[in-house]
Amino acid sequence: MEYKLAPSILAADFMRLGEQIGIVEANGAEYIHYDVMDGMFVPSISFGMPVLKSVRKGTGLFLDCHLMVVDPYRYIEDFVSSGADSITVHVEACTKTDCRATLELIKEKGIKCGISINPGTHVSALKPYLDLADMVLIMSVEPGFGGQKFIEGTFGKIEELKQLRDEMKLSFDIEVDGGVTADNLADIVRAGVNVIVSGSSIFKGDIEANVKNFKKIIAENACRA
Ligand code: DX5
Ligand code: ZN
Repeated sequence: MEYKLAPSILAADFMRLGEQIGIVEANGAEYIHYDVMDGMFVPSISFGMPVLKSVRKGTGLFLDCHLMVVDPYRYIEDFVSSGADSITVHVEACTKTDCRATLELIKEKGIKCGISINPGTHVSALKPYLDLADMVLIMSVEPGFGGQKFIEGTFGKIEELKQLRDEMKLSFDIEVDGGVTADNLADIVRAGVNVIVSGSSIFKGDIEANVKNFKKIIAENACRA
């Protein structure tokens, strides 16, 4: 299994965004997690295509775009042309155009696709789309804000998702997002998560030391199978 650390730049200092992305890149982060919020699917508003274009120019890292946006189908082409390497959409947000068509469009554009559920949504809601997904994102906080506490019930959902993956003979990545800290990271990795998002615990304080510490914990707890 390949492990990827995906620092969420929602927690970065936007006056120093390029410099801070450079620090996570230089210290071995593999992805940049890019949180798009529309003020409708979630209460807050973050950033969109123009910022992504600038980030794309400034880094070679894989850009993991998490769309917390109602009817994400409308924006797939824009995010692809702005430099996304992967787009993850929420099952709950695909209202007008269904999730399958949305994932198919992402794949048609030649990038990776992910599907996500909120803490209140059952894992079974993912089942109709798993055959298409390169990655499944289990939200471990209510989406919308950084700096929240990890919801413990996420561990049960990871277990259920792994069972489904085995039963369906699939090989998608499992990503967790929200409340991941140096204290709960080992348990999260041991539970079977291989794409690890973290905002506050990476960008607050000494970014270089935080990335190095996260990488070390991931390596120590990685499943070697
Ligand atoms: C929350 C976002 C997360 C957020 C995580 O809606 O999807 O990616 O940045 O932040 P932390 O790691 O601070 O919980
Ligand atoms: Zn996110």
